[in-house]
Amino acid sequence: MQDLTIAVVGATGAVGAEFLRIVETRYPTLPKLKLMASSRSAGKIITVGGKDLVVEEAAVDSFDDVDIAFISASSAVSHKLAPAAVEAGAVVIDDGSAFRMEDKVPLVVPEVNGSDVEWHEGIISIPNCSTTPLVMAAHPLHQVNPIKRIVADTYQSVSGAGGGAMDTLREQTERLMDSDYLTIKSEEGQIAYNVVPQIDRFMETGYTFEEQKMRQESQKILHAPEIQISATCVRVPVYISHSASVHIEFTRPMAVEEATKLLNAMPGITVLGDQDTGEYPMPWDVAGEDDVFIGRIRQDMSHPNGLVMWIVSDNLRKGAALNSLQIAEELVYRGRLKPKSASELTG
Ligand code: A2P
Repeated sequence: MQDLTIAVVGATGAVGAEFLRIVETRYPTLPKLKLMASSRSAGKIITVGGKDLVVEEAAVDSFDDVDIAFISASSAVSHKLAPAAVEAGAVVIDDGSAFRMEDKVPLVVPEVNGSDVEWHEGIISIPNCSTTPLVMAAHPLHQVNPIKRIVADTYQSVSGAGGGAMDTLREQTERLMDSDYLTIKSEEGQIAYNVVPQIDRFMETGYTFEEQKMRQESQKILHAPEIQISATCVRVPVYISHSASVHIEFTRPMAVEEATKLLNAMPGITVLGDQDTGEYPMPWDVAGEDDVFIGRIRQDMSHPNGLVMWIVSDNLRKGAALNSLQIAEELVYRGRLKPKSASELTG
């Protein structure tokens, strides 16, 4: 990784900051970093690994000599910059929904479908931050007992909506601390002391786009369009980490012990506690961790082939920045990162 030049578009955002924190700790020798954001942040200094780096405004001509462009801004930014980055010879790892469902774009969680990076044509998408932990849990179980149906209800932290939403939670909470009233109107909607059963816009089906993403993206990553998936995605006043209550119906019954064993054997998953210990993962504890944490695995009383579990993961890390860096490592490992010099030679 140290030989690469990585552009980070959205370096001043919640995911971008986490990306830089992971780079600092994961690689003994840092890759060359080009930090980018909007014109508002141009000139800002961010210190990474003891070095002061200047943020530049991201533009279509910013990607010369870039090997990997990580984009975590908005779909509009991805649509504008990703083709230009690919044109300049970079592989784009995109954190948004802009390209995820395109046939020519692999949607990758390396532990689940790392080999899909093989067929990239310049852009690789990472899944929505609630999809990633779901497929991490579903994959090892689906291998031995095909999943027929999943019902997932999420409890998603505000950092999933960006750094601005974290500020909103803090400001609303501070205002409410000394208030007798629990209704403060704001443009962002009230999230402090509240839960909001809507993330992203509503679709014609009555589901939200976030809920549709969980269904379609999971089917694509698991290569299993036959799995029926229904999600309800809810925003909760938590800063970091998304949680989910997940009901899985298999083809045959699956014992809790077998599921626990399979999940424990899956890289990137930690099963925490059991009925006897009364332990379970919670977002506060999981924030800052790389693994997806699973607890409260139990038989579903409403279905003989069903299991229920509680899944928590840091949405900024495995849900976004860490998954992106793992994709970069997968590209290097598989030799699918076309070096700039090679494209120049053949181009
Ligand atoms: P900026 O800080 O200059 O606005 P978050 O998800 O935490 O809200 O962060 C969004 C990230 O996307 C920020 O780094 C933000 O930069 C960046 N961004 C927003 N608009 C653009 C743009 N037009 N070009 C490049 N980066 C952008």
